[in-house]
Amino acid sequence: MLEQSDHPIYLDHAATMPLLPIVKQQMQEALLADYGNASSLHQRGHMAHQIVEAARSQIARLINADPAEIIFTSGGSESNNTVMETFRDRKVAVSAIEHPSVLESAKARASQVTILPVDAEGRVSPADISPDVDLVSVMLANNEIGTLEPLAAIAKHCKKHNIFVHTDATQAFGKIKIDVRTLGVDYMTLSAHKIGGPIGVGVLYVKQGSPYHPLILGGHQENRRRAGTTNIIGIAGFGAAAAWCWDHWSCRKWAGVAKLRNELKQRILQEIPYCTCNTPAEHSLPHILNLSFAAAEGESIQLYLSEQGIYVGTGSACAAGDLRPSHVIMATKHDAEIAHNSIRFALGLDTTEADIERVMQVLPPIIARLRDMSTIKLGEKDVSI
Ligand SMILES: Cc1ncc(COP(=O)(O)O)c(C=O)c1O
Repeated sequence: MLEQSDHPIYLDHAATMPLLPIVKQQMQEALLADYGNASSLHQRGHMAHQIVEAARSQIARLINADPAEIIFTSGGSESNNTVMETFRDRKVAVSAIEHPSVLESAKARASQVTILPVDAEGRVSPADISPDVDLVSVMLANNEIGTLEPLAAIAKHCKKHNIFVHTDATQAFGKIKIDVRTLGVDYMTLSAHKIGGPIGVGVLYVKQGSPYHPLILGGHQENRRRAGTTNIIGIAGFGAAAAWCWDHWSCRKWAGVAKLRNELKQRILQEIPYCTCNTPAEHSLPHILNLSFAAAEGESIQLYLSEQGIYVGTGSACAAGDLRPSHVIMATKHDAEIAHNSIRFALGLDTTEADIERVMQVLPPIIARLRDMSTIKLGEKDVSI
């Protein structure tokens, strides 16, 4: 085996992004300040309230929303559950590749759930949406394979039939330009930790005038839309991360990452046989690359890479420890083997050529070793990959 490099290579930015230095700094400042409860009417409460309102505006401008349309939550999962709570006992259609916090919360609450099929790249076709549903929920970008959905076309179709539209933009936020008005959606989910903010804070955008039922009751916070003492430190961090994205044109920076991602893809496909790419060539986030290697299990590849200081994901990070094949790859490739053998590289803004070089030093021998141990003999039998 190759020697472990002293510098770990983090290629799991879709699971969570390390805190941006400015976020750390602003969260520390907020922690050290003598803040009060944002709902209190005294000076300390006022100071906390100002931190929260500044963050609300910083997040709103990134998606071209009005600050009043932004509701702070505990993360993407809560935002998704809140939308489904709003459509309790109604008819809901969700794509087959949604995050479990959409799929499972829809199944738990809606009177009827239609699963929208996706093509081999993971894209939903607006023509598959039946006019008799009340809500459609399709993510802006998929967390496992990076597919970008045709959201504007989906929303246009839904509006013709007076269907409300929700999009989980947790992965797309900060990576591609988002404008809620031109997209034409009624609800949008965001999460701080996917853009270099802290874990445990998110947002639900609710277009003015759209139906809304709180998930968490028992307080007047967030204009009576989400009870619970306001998470000032987390929100300060989310605001700082959003401000960083705005000030540094983060979408342009992320677009630049596609070059390295494509280089990694090309080299792996050239240098490692029996490998399939699960990420679409077009219509994908710039930093995600999902691949499957015949006769090599994703989890094993992940562990061997980790031993070498290279950190990647398999399926959904949230489902780590869950041994069922990825529902995303099952919905696109319809093959349990491909689903079990997949790994996800999610590059960061700090990923370098040297990191790619290191992956290409380490990955081929790992795959060769796993294949040697496998009972599947490549070349002798017809492998599906
Ligand atoms: C697409 C998507 N939606 C929702 C979530 C959940 O967000 P959070 O971790 O903030 O609850 C994730 C997290 O991995 C995600 O990738």
